[in-house]
Amino acid sequence: MRFLTAGESHGKCLTTIIEGVPAGLFITVDHINSELARRQSGYGRGGRMKIEKDTVEISSGVRGGYTLGSPIALTIINKDWENWKTIMSPTTSADLKSRFVSRPRPGHADLFGAIKYGHQDMRNVLERSSARETAARVAVGSIAKRILSMLDVDIFSHVIRIGQQEVKRELSFEEIKKNAPNSPVFCADSKTESEMLKEIEQCKLKGDTLGGIFEVIALNLPIGLGSYVHWDRKLDGRLAQSVMSIQAIKAVEIGMGKDSGELPGSKVHDEIMYDSQKGFYQKTNRAGGLIGGITTGAPLRVRATMKPIPTLMQPLSSVDFISKVNSPAATERSDVCAVPAASVVGEAAVAWVLAQAFLEMFGCDQMQDICKRVQEYRTYVRQI
Ligand SMILES: Cc1cc2nc3c(=O)[nH]c(=O)nc-3n(C[C@H](O)[C@H](O)[C@H](O)COP(=O)(O)O)c2cc1C
Repeated sequence: MRFLTAGESHGKCLTTIIEGVPAGLFITVDHINSELARRQSGYGRGGRMKIEKDTVEISSGVRGGYTLGSPIALTIINKDWENWKTIMSPTTSADLKSRFVSRPRPGHADLFGAIKYGHQDMRNVLERSSARETAARVAVGSIAKRILSMLDVDIFSHVIRIGQQEVKRELSFEEIKKNAPNSPVFCADSKTESEMLKEIEQCKLKGDTLGGIFEVIALNLPIGLGSYVHWDRKLDGRLAQSVMSIQAIKAVEIGMGKDSGELPGSKVHDEIMYDSQKGFYQKTNRAGGLIGGITTGAPLRVRATMKPIPTLMQPLSSVDFISKVNSPAATERSDVCAVPAASVVGEAAVAWVLAQAFLEMFGCDQMQDICKRVQEYRTYVRQI
């Protein structure tokens, strides 16, 4: 499976083409829209989320609710387009002056993108580097999630840290699944949640922004997705690439992650056990469900650190690209904290790689056959 997205932040729409989705997968507009709505929620988002309620149009590849095996084309119209159509018009009559951006924002792609592509107007950079593009990725991820759900894989996420506020206690999967979706910051621990909300509020008053950490968890993966045989088939590497490519993600950890560099082997590696009912399993899951680039059958745990949003309402110093005069950075309507939204994008990024890995291992053209093969493989593993 592969996909491409196109579309500017204030352009007419986001467009996606997904190729390689097997035939016979049940998918509705509601499946996709509910994921798009999750991406738009979360405390700390900016004014734009109030203007837009993203909805998708499926324009090909699905008939009567089922995928056909042909490319799937998705469109998400930008609701704000009416206000931007002369500014973002592809025609020669476009208004290129009124929203000209020449004061690059520290932490955003503005300056380096303008130099790379030879633009004077940094709007030509920010329109595509913006995280608006993640709406398309979430739409794609919702299809990947449908594939995973047919294969009995459960995938969900939660926010662990915002700014200085971090969940300190161990949370059960049940708690995370029950509490996180009902939390305004997708945090499963109510005490930390209220501290997070306060910190976002205080930060907003200062015109500043916040980052944090989220975790994506996938349950019931079989042993053996991915491979150790080539660098680009290792599933840990592929997951890291997919998650790291999300705007503002600066670190990706699997299992114990960076803590594993601080402890001796006896406190890092998972001891191997055998049970006649379960087959082989590990006593602990410090590796986070992946060893040698292969899934171990234990829960997959991927954590990502998001930096604070680069657009500050109290802007940092910058230099005007045209006049070279020191000036505060430009401001655009922006989020104060988008870690909850990023966790939804993270789920989509992980779901995509897992669905790809399933199709590589069990792939064929029909969803029904893939389900059968996965079931047979699960039985084979249990009987070893
Ligand atoms: C869900 C989400 C929402 C974001 N919202 C904003 C925003 O409103 N304003 C902003 O300046 N950056 C926002 N960002 C981050 C920027 O897009 C990102 O920092 C920028 O593209 C530079 O890329 P880099 O941080 O990956 O190097 C958001 C990121 C995500 C994942």
